[in-house]
Order: sequence, then C-alpha cells, then structure tokens
Amino acid sequence: MGPQAAHAHHDKVTSQMTLSERADALEEQMMHDLETVVTKSVLANLMDGRVEMAGGAALQSKYPGKYFNMGADPRLPPMPEKPTLLDYFKNRFASTNHLLQSGALALKNGHSEKVVLACLLHDIAVVSFIRCDHGYWGAQMIAPYVDEEVSEAIRMHQALRFFPDESMGYAYPDMYVKYFGKDYKPEPYIVEEYKRARNSKYYETSRLICVNDIYAFDPNAQVNLEAFEDVIGRNFKQPKEGLGWDNSPSAHMWRTIMWPTRFL
Ligand SMILES: [Fe+2]
Ligand SMILES: [Fe+2]
Repeated sequence: MGPQAAHAHHDKVTSQMTLSERADALEEQMMHDLETVVTKSVLANLMDGRVEMAGGAALQSKYPGKYFNMGADPRLPPMPEKPTLLDYFKNRFASTNHLLQSGALALKNGHSEKVVLACLLHDIAVVSFIRCDHGYWGAQMIAPYVDEEVSEAIRMHQALRFFPDESMGYAYPDMYVKYFGKDYKPEPYIVEEYKRARNSKYYETSRLICVNDIYAFDPNAQVNLEAFEDVIGRNFKQPKEGLGWDNSPSAHMWRTIMWPTRFL
C-alpha cells in the first residue's frame, strides 16, 4: 500500500478541533508522510504525564505497509557517519548559548583547559537529553572521553549549585529562589552528594563550574563554538569510529541522542 492509501486513515484537521486535537492530528498526518514509523519511548510519554506505550502490532496496523524506523529520524538534522562532539553541538544540542558563555567566562577568568572544558560541557545533558539529574547523566556521557577531573566535576556541580561557598565567591543563586521558591530544600541525596563533593579532590573544579555558571552573563554576547575547538581537540578523546559507534560505556547514550526514535 502506498502513501496515498495510508493518508485515507488519518483524521483531517478541522476548525472544530481543540488545539491539542489539532496538534495530535497534525502529528499523525506528519507520521503518515514519513517512510517509516517512528516511535516514542515510554520516557517521552511519562514526560507528557502518561504511563503509556504503543504496542508494535497496533502501531503497524495504523500505518499499513510500513516498517518501523530502525535508524535516523528523518525529521531531525542528519548526522555524519562518524560524528564528533562538535557535530552533536551543531545538530543535537537544543541550545548552546549557556554552555558557550560559561566556557567563555572560564577562559576569560584564566582557568585551566580542564576547567574550561568542564564549564563548556557542564549542562550537556540538559541541552541534549534530560533535565532530571543532569549532572549524573552528563558526567556519564562524557566520562570515557575526558579526564576524570572533568566528568567528576560535572557530576558534582548539580549538588554544589545548591550550597554557597563564599570563600570561592559562590552564593546561593537568586535564580534558584525565583525558579524553586524561597523555601526549596534539596533532596537528601543531593545533600549527601554535596558532603561527598566537599571531600573530593575535584571539589574546586566543580565549584568553578558553579562560579562560571551564570545565566545573566551578557545575553547579547555571541560566542562561537570555534573558540573551543583547540581545547576540545586537546582534552576530549574523539573516538575514531565516531561518537556513538565506539563501544564505550556511554556510546549507547550518544546513539540514543543521534537516533532517538529507533523501534529497538
Ligand atoms: Fe547544571
Ligand atoms: Fe548551567
């Protein structure tokens, strides 16, 4: 069955529909236009507030004559065969300004290349993958490719952000009061992480991420990714197979970001 026949099955977008019905109908229409059936993982549904998944058989009967997507999602920017960290920056990171500005501030403050890299990558989980526990996810993503100082500092910054250290020039962020309310208290596991971080040999590096992690830093300043190519080149071990194809302990995370709608 060709695409024309498949079109007959979907609901038409009409003016009587609510906004969310329209969105669903448009999404469905778009899905019918694709060569393959792209699928949402349960996690994506959980984030929409639903404990749900579509079964394979039911999905396939909705899109007759099509196979499930087992590779690149045609809706996303294509990735090269052997992607580098820079390719992910350009094609998968939803926002890079905060990372580039934090990295630029660390450079300006004269910190070591490891600190600069840690600042540049500290929120990569947020911009490419997941917010919740972003320090842990981000650290795992990069651990095989960077010095332990960089990944450990990134893991710990999530907790350290909630605790001031005046001796290093870090106060509790006003932004957190605005975002979470003045009575917000970090979870006990974050408090424990903070205590461990205080005794870590990478405490200072992690604290420097917090110090350079400033959203208000000149919103008009445009920092180019190119400014960090050398630092990345010297401090990020780019796998020759391409990031995601290298069988490192976190390669699957990069593949998931590259091809997020594979059926399996
Ligand atoms: Fe962060
Ligand atoms: Fe940040």
